[in-house]
Amino acid sequence: MKLSIIGTGYVGLTTGACFAEVGHEVTCVDNNQEKVDMLLAGQIPIYEPGLEEIVKKNVAAGRLKFTTSTADGVRDGEVVFIAVPTPPQADGSVDLSFIEKVAREIAESLKPEYGFKVIVDKSTVPVKTGQKVGETVRRYAPEGVEFSVASNPEFLREGCAVDDLLNPDRIVFGVDNEKAADLMRRIYSPFNAPVLVTDIESAELIKHAANSFLALKISYINAVARVCEKSGADIEKVAEGIGMDERIGRRFLNAGLGYGGSCFPKDVKAFIAISESLGYPFELLKQVEQINDDQRKLFLDRIREKLWVLQEKKIALWGLAFKQNTDDVRESVAIKLANDMLKEGAKVTGWDPQGMETAKRFGNLGEGFTYGDDMYSCLDGAEVLIIGTEWPEFANADLEEIKKRMRNPLVFDGRNLMEPENMAAAGIEYYSIGR
Ligand SMILES: NC(=O)c1ccc[n+]([C@@H]2O[C@H](COP(=O)([O-])OP(=O)(O)OC[C@H]3O[C@@H](n4cnc5c(N)ncnc54)[C@H](O)[C@@H]3O)[C@@H](O)[C@H]2O)c1
Repeated sequence: MKLSIIGTGYVGLTTGACFAEVGHEVTCVDNNQEKVDMLLAGQIPIYEPGLEEIVKKNVAAGRLKFTTSTADGVRDGEVVFIAVPTPPQADGSVDLSFIEKVAREIAESLKPEYGFKVIVDKSTVPVKTGQKVGETVRRYAPEGVEFSVASNPEFLREGCAVDDLLNPDRIVFGVDNEKAADLMRRIYSPFNAPVLVTDIESAELIKHAANSFLALKISYINAVARVCEKSGADIEKVAEGIGMDERIGRRFLNAGLGYGGSCFPKDVKAFIAISESLGYPFELLKQVEQINDDQRKLFLDRIREKLWVLQEKKIALWGLAFKQNTDDVRESVAIKLANDMLKEGAKVTGWDPQGMETAKRFGNLGEGFTYGDDMYSCLDGAEVLIIGTEWPEFANADLEEIKKRMRNPLVFDGRNLMEPENMAAAGIEYYSIGR
């Protein structure tokens, strides 16, 4: 099938490449000229395992192309996906201006001779956005165009997006007519995954409800970790015991500094805001957010207890990306923690396996932050090492090297990556979360 995707970021590019990989002909559109130029020159603007190979393979096979022209995308795709940002506004509600703009641009590019098109929202949006997109396209499109709007929330995880897209747990789409449903079924027929077809509103809501539930699991285990700290129980054992119950499951029960990234913080906020505007104040989710914000503050309190004053203290920070296997630093808790410490006059040196460049460009790190040359050199003379992201490199670190390089062998592990016994055996003073 011929498909187009407007917005070639994390979601648009990986989805486009995976659609091409299963045999569709895909046009990826982005209004960022620099990004499109990079892609046309064979460079991948983001780090995502396995993405480069499938992009190159499908470009070479003629199934994947890149352009800045929405008009070309609308002409070429029987189905046009929207995958543009939906960032939060100051009050937590979603900034839908990117979606509205794309809806207008699509409408102005539609022509009656193109025949029936489906405009599919893949961005994460508040319930009832599809209705607004439909109204907008109708308002700006010429007479006689035929189209339907659909919702197709995306559940990929950064860091394993290609695998998630090629082998999804489920595919959800919301439609309001059979013709659109048939096209959507055909798009996804090469994927071996259960398909749930719903109305548009339910599909939209599934995404916010799912992400908020995962965030809730994280905040729940972090709250339990606080009780563990006060009682002498070990959160790792507690999480294992809870997670062995099939109804609960072990995933998303890792105590730590809390969730970050471009999705959970904004999606929880958005779900609270849309529920509130519909007349339901979602207090449970407000607590989820509060627990998450407090995790970092409580961790910092414990660091202060050890170092007393942070001013002029040399602090090493391992991890800048919001989680492992990605270069994405949006809403990274590690970066927020670094900025908290910089505000108190600490000298923080950070290192990340993939997030150095993105942190330099988008991290907004405060004055006094420096980038380490490598994982170990940023430890030289440090009074404390803080682990902020769960990269496997850190879990497998050379403990002797840590001890040799630091001024004090003191480690605060915000992701429970290290084994306390190994740290004790190596003579490193070690603190983690909930144990
Ligand atoms: N990143 C994730 O893990 C993830 C997962 C699931 C869903 N989502 C959702 O998908 C959506 C996109 O997220 P993302 O992470 O891919 O964002 P992104 O910022 O990486 O990419 C968005 C792209 O859209 C482009 N764009 C903006 N306006 C445009 C326009 N008018 N025409 C053409 N291109 C335009 C931008 O230049 C950018 O390249 C968001 O709603 C997000 O919540 C993200």
